[in-house]
Amino acid sequence: MSNESLANLLKEERRFAPPAELAAAANVTAAAYAQASEDRLGFWAEQARRLTWAVEPTETLDWSNPPFAKWFADGKLNVAYNCVDRHVEAGNGDRVAIHFEGEPGDGRSITYAQLKDEVSQAANALLELGVRKGDRVAVYLPMIAEAVVAILACARIGATHSVVFGGFSADAVASRIQDAQAKLVITADGGYRRGKPSALKPAIDEALTKVDGVEHVLVVRRTGQEVSWTEGRDVWWHELTARQSTEHTPEAHDAEHPLFILYTSGTTGKPKGILHTSGGYLTQASYTHHAVFDLKPESDVYWCTADIGWVTGHSYIVYGPLSNGATQVIYEGTPDTPHQGRFWEIVQKYGVTILYTAPTAIRTFMKWGDDIPAKFDLSSLRVLGSVGEPINPEAWIWYRDHIGAGKAPIVDTWWQTETGAMMISPLPGVTETKPGSAQRALPGIAATVVDDEAREVPNGSGGYLVLTEPWPSMLRTIWGDDQRYIDTYWSRFEGRYFAGDGAKKDEDGDIWLLGRVDDVMLVSGHNISTTEVESALVGHPSVAESAVVGATDATTGQAIVAFVILRGTATDSPELVEELRAHVGRTLGPIAKPKQIKVVGELPKTRSGKIMRRLLRDIAEGREIGDTTTLADSTVMNLIQAQLPPAGSES
Ligand code: WT7
Repeated sequence: MSNESLANLLKEERRFAPPAELAAAANVTAAAYAQASEDRLGFWAEQARRLTWAVEPTETLDWSNPPFAKWFADGKLNVAYNCVDRHVEAGNGDRVAIHFEGEPGDGRSITYAQLKDEVSQAANALLELGVRKGDRVAVYLPMIAEAVVAILACARIGATHSVVFGGFSADAVASRIQDAQAKLVITADGGYRRGKPSALKPAIDEALTKVDGVEHVLVVRRTGQEVSWTEGRDVWWHELTARQSTEHTPEAHDAEHPLFILYTSGTTGKPKGILHTSGGYLTQASYTHHAVFDLKPESDVYWCTADIGWVTGHSYIVYGPLSNGATQVIYEGTPDTPHQGRFWEIVQKYGVTILYTAPTAIRTFMKWGDDIPAKFDLSSLRVLGSVGEPINPEAWIWYRDHIGAGKAPIVDTWWQTETGAMMISPLPGVTETKPGSAQRALPGIAATVVDDEAREVPNGSGGYLVLTEPWPSMLRTIWGDDQRYIDTYWSRFEGRYFAGDGAKKDEDGDIWLLGRVDDVMLVSGHNISTTEVESALVGHPSVAESAVVGATDATTGQAIVAFVILRGTATDSPELVEELRAHVGRTLGPIAKPKQIKVVGELPKTRSGKIMRRLLRDIAEGREIGDTTTLADSTVMNLIQAQLPPAGSES
């Protein structure tokens, strides 16, 4: 976002005080900020006591070998026990944990007591397949309750899960299975999307022709569609789990035991396996879910619309809500199946009180029209959350007015796969919210904005967002690559974690996020690296060279625009462009398909051969071309422009 648009945005002096009723009964009050700033570690030690430990930790933070942190290192706990069994033991076994809503309209409600049985059976099933503590398990599932059960079963036996988003292609899955050296893959025949069964198992079958080491594939039957079967390797989930005992005694694992790996795009192409561990991660996931959503487990119905394949699904579908004993909705499908009011119908059906979704979804709902949510009873909603990218003030106001009846507070939560849990966000019972700002670091979190020389910027100025103190749910490393962990996050500013985001502090010191400062694109809330898309394009026989940029897009935040130079024999045609888009979809997954592909004769490069994406973004966004003085050949931009139709003339 440019400085002018930020200035315009900041001119909107709208502030919204928390509803009095909510503030009066809020889980967390302003006192938390004071308490945490007085004694940050004491504050986190207290939050760790939200959990049930088999061995209580006496240490809080070990930062003797930065940037490698240990939190609560001498404590032991079982994460799945904390998410399931203890609620049953506390007498809440009959409380619904999950209302599963399938896309076709089927569904089931699972109580905590039933969840305990299912997780125990799944844990016993994993053991029968030879999975042991410390092994890695890849999970490639649709948004069904079994995804939660599978994840918790891994956590229970101390196997490290690596969930791969169900929209990723066979190649993307293969590289992630390979990197983590997973021994087991849990998948499904398919899931329902846009009114039809959408296959998942073929991608696993293909991926497993490319990697070794996977002993079994455990297959959930969801759609009943035909699957190919490898005898001895493939096992039906329902057959294996049904014959397991519902008794499984959870073992206590070290607080620093690896809980999961989750892959996120890096600028150098190879995805980074972000490693999260147990005690610190669960402490912050649990605390933030309690504080930021003001969750009252006895009365709230919570719904996070994210996919389980992203970190939001891990922290705010599985670990945060379940550790807090919440009742939640899990929805399998798309928001417009079978009609554009599906989300609102679900809110009405289950009486959802807390909704957590993404700006890209909110902008889509705005486009579909105010009349659609207006047809449903949304009066149960009392807190609304946003995550994934900066939320523009228009969308923020629309969300509040049309979904939140003009009164539900909006919590714009900034965090990352790497941070594991929320870091910057309003508190719904405390903060006077400002449309478009994530506002303030949560209690116990230290964030600021610095300039190029690592100096903290004054209020009213912009720079780079950094985190200045370690936090419990921080990534511990990049799986198998400690050096890359240091280089990526801790080298730009001495002793500080650099988040990769630009940010600005307003006159009150509130933080406004300005998007990624590097070349990672943010499409519908998902990080996609330009390099990954470029290398996919160059992998096609017709493409010689490519450069990819993210162009501002009203719906998806950023849209992928690719510039390609064809090989000698290939010629530009709509068919070829379509074929290239499909090729990227196959290589990386549909989310990475470029919205536009422009065939050009040259690409703008510096003398050292680095592509000047800034200039291509100018073209993609239809602006006048900026400074071209560092180009190796300054005539290139004229050539490119002459070849392209004027901006806005294509979709
Ligand atoms: C990047 C992290 C956090 C889970 C989903 C994405 C952007 C995230 C916000 C927000 C502005 C945001 C940042 C961040 N981002 N939330 N509330 N306001 N930007 O996880 O794929 O690891 O992406 O998403 O650029 O660095 P992720």
